[in-house]
Amino acid sequence: MCGIVGYVGNREASPLLIEGLSKLEYRGYDSAGVAILNDGKIKIEKCKGRLKNLENKLEEFPIEGGVGIGHTRWATHGEPSDVNSHPHFNKDKSIAVVHNGIIENYIYLKEWLGSLGYEFLTETDTEVVAHLVDHFYNGDIVKAVADAVEKIEGSYALGVVSKNEPEKLVAIRKDSPLIVGLGEDENFIASDIPAILSQTRKVYLLEDKELVVLTKEGVTITTLEGMPVTKEVFNVTWDAEAAEKGGYEHFMIKEIHEQPKAIKDTMTSRIMADSDEIKLDDINLTKEDLKNIDKIFIVACGTAYHAGMVGKYVIEKLARIPVEVDIASEFRYRNPILNERTLMIVVSQSGETADTMAALREAKKQGSRVIAVTNVVGSSAAREADDILYTWAGPEIAVASTKAYTTQLIAMYIIGLYLARLNDKMSVEEYRVIRDEMLALPAKVETLLENKETLQRFADANKNNDDIFYLGRGLDNAVALEGALKLKEISYIHAEAYAAGELKHGPIALIDDGIPVIALATQEELFDKMVSNIREVVTRGAKVLSIACEGSTAIETVSDAVEYIPRAIDLLTPVLSVIPLQLLSYYVSIARGCDVDKPRNLAKSVTVE
Ligand code: F6R
Repeated sequence: MCGIVGYVGNREASPLLIEGLSKLEYRGYDSAGVAILNDGKIKIEKCKGRLKNLENKLEEFPIEGGVGIGHTRWATHGEPSDVNSHPHFNKDKSIAVVHNGIIENYIYLKEWLGSLGYEFLTETDTEVVAHLVDHFYNGDIVKAVADAVEKIEGSYALGVVSKNEPEKLVAIRKDSPLIVGLGEDENFIASDIPAILSQTRKVYLLEDKELVVLTKEGVTITTLEGMPVTKEVFNVTWDAEAAEKGGYEHFMIKEIHEQPKAIKDTMTSRIMADSDEIKLDDINLTKEDLKNIDKIFIVACGTAYHAGMVGKYVIEKLARIPVEVDIASEFRYRNPILNERTLMIVVSQSGETADTMAALREAKKQGSRVIAVTNVVGSSAAREADDILYTWAGPEIAVASTKAYTTQLIAMYIIGLYLARLNDKMSVEEYRVIRDEMLALPAKVETLLENKETLQRFADANKNNDDIFYLGRGLDNAVALEGALKLKEISYIHAEAYAAGELKHGPIALIDDGIPVIALATQEELFDKMVSNIREVVTRGAKVLSIACEGSTAIETVSDAVEYIPRAIDLLTPVLSVIPLQLLSYYVSIARGCDVDKPRNLAKSVTVE
């Protein structure tokens, strides 16, 4: 996720911006830059790579000045590069802009501004903001920003400076974080409190569409219509480390809570309530191409593999194309049958996992087309695949994957729908039903995140068990596997997932008095069979926590505890049922005193075989 810092005051802006940006490094970034008002001009220095690169540049070519904006970029539109780094200029370099978020209608705005003569130098969505502010500028930068944001759809936190009004910094947010820091004869903006914590502990927490003007003398906040807004000063009492996690105790729980937004962002501008079109900018598969494809392989590791298992169900059900899911480390060595009639989908949060990359290269070598589903713009997977679908989860810091997984699920649904429409296997009416249900998912995840008591109680009661079993059928089986992986990696408890129907073919011998079993029963068609399977383990003494859809109260007769998820069509329940499993793992891990964010023996990106 991008990071923004801004400063207006009597001190030199440059070192304060760099220091602030360094405190936002935890958010992840691939490039950095600053714009500083200097001697009647705006000077920008920006570059791809670590903040240190920018710092070195600024040491070599210092920019003096007491007003500036800084940015760390996590690429979404356009690869990480010097030119795509923020800040961005308008055409005569009188206005500079930094942005965090996604401008959903940037293609429309780009075309419109292009027709007015604006030229675009970057691949970013942000550059439209610089030109838009320029378009509306008529001697008043505050009004120009207000007019510009009226045209923008999507999420944004913006910092804007103009050389014509060099004492001001204008800022505004919608659905992306931004705060104001209040100092003595100086003021700040930042994406997050840690960026300014060494300078001030007095902040304003901005609400959507509050327009802020900062000068060194003070801060004014108005509505877009110019009505004054009065705000209470928030005194930060957290220490720096707690502030980095936004008040959450660990990155994992923070990232679990970021899922409604990550899911929404991943659907943004691809599936829309008012359109029957699925827009995938980086997938160029045509009807003709698809006619020549008779098999799909989904290849991935770990959590991404579990998302691929859901992908198999979804694509086969919707697009009626046979799909095989493979663990990447196994794929290459089993002499897979690949050719130009095969489509491979690799799923990788990092886009750098060695085994997944090896599978991708093998497929390319054999003439297959490859789609990469990845969270990192410009990653190896994105560079080497033929087509890309980015998950817009933002950087994941905790080793245990949570928001990357749910956004990978969304990517699987989007691809499934896309292929089904391309393949003429789905009517518009059928599409609309699934699309509307998908668009409702963020709100449903939000509600789930409010119910934690049952899970906390179950975690506490079972934290000392040596084994925990997970059961599910169909899509619930895929989610059970992910739930078990999550628990074992962060709590070190032996957790095993089984297809519930397979239980009596061996694993049931492990069920004994007091063994905890997590049973997923969200698939309406399989519900009764699942209840029977639960009964089988209850009879042998298991303590069962069931995950079921609201209203499926019959489950209570065979469960010690039930966590209900909001109702959704069977196909989409994995996005919901995994949330309690993530939370449960988290609570067990902290109850056992484990290092939640950095579990033993694990690395975030596995770049060796
Ligand atoms: C588990 C986890 C891992 C990764 C796996 C693949 O929580 O994070 O299982 O899913 O190492 O990583 P990527 O998706 O980066 O290829």
